[in-house]
Amino acid sequence: MTYRVAVLPGDGIGPEVMEEALKVLDAVSKQFGLEFEYREALVGGVAIDEKGHAFPDETKEVCDWSQAILFGAVGGPKWEDLPPEEQPERAALLPLRKRYELFANLRPAVVFPALISSSPLRGEIMGRGGFDILVVRELTGGIYFGQPKGIFLEGERRKGIDTLIYYDWEIERIARIAFEAAMKRRKRLTSVDKANVLTSMVLWRDVVKEVSRDYPDVEVNHFLVDNAAMQLIRDPLQFDVILAGNMFGDILSDEAAMLTGSIGMLPSASIGEEKGLYEPVHGSAPDIAGQGVANPLATILSAAMMLRYSFSQEEAASAIESAVVSVLGEGYRTGDLYRGEGIKVKTKEMGDLVAERIL
Ligand code: IPM
Ligand code: MG
Repeated sequence: MTYRVAVLPGDGIGPEVMEEALKVLDAVSKQFGLEFEYREALVGGVAIDEKGHAFPDETKEVCDWSQAILFGAVGGPKWEDLPPEEQPERAALLPLRKRYELFANLRPAVVFPALISSSPLRGEIMGRGGFDILVVRELTGGIYFGQPKGIFLEGERRKGIDTLIYYDWEIERIARIAFEAAMKRRKRLTSVDKANVLTSMVLWRDVVKEVSRDYPDVEVNHFLVDNAAMQLIRDPLQFDVILAGNMFGDILSDEAAMLTGSIGMLPSASIGEEKGLYEPVHGSAPDIAGQGVANPLATILSAAMMLRYSFSQEEAASAIESAVVSVLGEGYRTGDLYRGEGIKVKTKEMGDLVAERIL
């Protein structure tokens, strides 16, 4: 069996980190006898430059063909002055998510033991082993996509509208993903809402409670989003799985990522019924693009998530994750992780080191 992978490197450091992820997948392919067929396509700013659109038809075809999409990063100063709806982030990512109904966004925020001192939180808050949180974010509904949306004229005045809508079935399917994930982890789930003010979030809380009856082993609590933001800083170790809607999940996943101290390390998966998209949480980092110094580990770990969730190759996925832990344990650091100790390496070396440790 050959796995079909669409490769979308994108802008900035995207192509550099993607190369290393493919290098590691090559090692995995040899070691585990897996076959991948890759098709590369343009996305983001480079696609705007060459095809006039951030998510051109050719790229859609490649993605349609694929079983999984490996995504680098999009955006940069060159395209910042375009109208908001034409900018690479919005014009590429949101249509990709919607086209394949990638409703389940999994964003692990894990503190690697070797990097525990990189967290902005004090040692006593981090505990001995740091935290391991999985943010499960609803990705194709809520205020990002609700209609009406737009800037409308009302007499002389303009009025900007976004609409927060959640259907019960949208809440239910993302809640099930979160509960299933919790069952495989520490069996704690925190659902985040704003049920004290927003009616759609009253429904959110109700549906999550209904779904929770099917998972009696999972300990559930419901936090208001402002409190959740605070608790994440006060005591991140209390969290296991965090379930949130599109906008709250966007915000809290960045907060959780930052608390790990190494946003260059964090992968993500966006999963639908048929396909998954896998991308590093960090952006295109135009300030360091082209210098070969970017940290490829988030993209490498995203490839591991692809093996796990799209191809059910758990062993191969774990092999990548263990290789990353080894490399960090041996003291290798890219610039973003380097704090004066250990061995500073560039992007390619980091990719080589991980690839060599795929066993
Ligand atoms: C993310 C990003 C995107 C989002 C933007 C770039 C559209 O912040 O993936 O978290 O808001 O979903
Ligand atoms: Mg975000």
